[in-house]
Amino acid sequence: MPIQEKCRVLVHQPIGPRFYQLTLLSRDIATQAQPGQFVEVKCADGYVPLLRRPISLHRIDPQNETFTLLYEVVGQGTELLAKAAVGAELDILGPLGTGFKIDPAKKTHLLVGGGMGVAPLMALAEEVKIQKSKACLPDRQVKSLDLFILIGARNKECVQCEGELKAVADQVIVSTDDGSYGQKGFVSDQLLDIINNRLSVVSCQSSVIYACGPRPMLKAVAQIAAQKQIDCQLSLEERMACGIGACKGCAVLTTSGYKMVCKDGPVFNASDLVFS
Ligand SMILES: Cc1cc2nc3c(=O)[nH]c(=O)nc-3n(C[C@H](O)[C@H](O)[C@H](O)COP(=O)(O)OP(=O)(O)OC[C@H]3O[C@@H](n4cnc5c(N)ncnc54)[C@H](O)[C@@H]3O)c2cc1C
Ligand code: FES
Repeated sequence: MPIQEKCRVLVHQPIGPRFYQLTLLSRDIATQAQPGQFVEVKCADGYVPLLRRPISLHRIDPQNETFTLLYEVVGQGTELLAKAAVGAELDILGPLGTGFKIDPAKKTHLLVGGGMGVAPLMALAEEVKIQKSKACLPDRQVKSLDLFILIGARNKECVQCEGELKAVADQVIVSTDDGSYGQKGFVSDQLLDIINNRLSVVSCQSSVIYACGPRPMLKAVAQIAAQKQIDCQLSLEERMACGIGACKGCAVLTTSGYKMVCKDGPVFNASDLVFS
């Protein structure tokens, strides 16, 4: 059940040109939220902008009753949000949507983020680690856990969270479209490279891909997953209005008809989505 709450801003800091990390206090949201879910943020008091803006849960910290967002300033709403001062309260609705489903029995977890699609991967990576350590797996398997994170960005300036993700992952691979940092090229090419060179046919069956990013990237990831027969979950970044399944403004075509990204997603099984 989503909660509407005025959440106090605990930390709000720029982490690069146009990028911000925002930590908010809410016991209820922090204890209920799952990786892959999002919140709808009222970016300013008053009627402008009228609609809330959807932002993924970047970190979820139930112990400290906080959650953190990572966002890029791209327009009116996020520009106003960037002005929120520490100590102020923001009107938040969440947690919303259906997040990632983690199967701790899978040996290899491949997390792929393009652009701001990297934001939800932090919470996901932390939860994969927690669930793996809780599951009664043979010691050897826990130790050989493969958690690969692939980050794709336009250029060096846009690479986010590399250090944070390195703290939880076995390996973080960065690629940029222009080659200004990491490997040159698309993150989906890096994914294929890892699968071809690091996974056997057997380990493809015990692997899972989770991806978030722009549509063309998700389409490429879905094609790779289908070709290699790897389970794959995709988080869609559709434009949203209500965020709770009421306005039907975020419908996407699936193999079982139209579904609402805000409610049935944003995370879907790749094999259920119909890409044009
Ligand atoms: C489920 C979900 C989770 C998201 N998580 C994050 C996140 O963690 N961090 C983050 O920075 N952004 C995230 N976004 C995108 C974010 O919601 C938009 O960037 C934001 O709403 C833009 O608001 P604005 O008023 O600043 O810009 P607007 O003036 O509304 O738009 C400015 C530009 O951004 C584009 N834009 C707006 N919404 C989207 C969208 N959903 N996808 C792609 N382009 C968009 C517009 O086409 C336009 O070009 C998420 C979106 C969804 C649906
Ligand atoms: S945003 Fe209104 S139904 Fe999804």
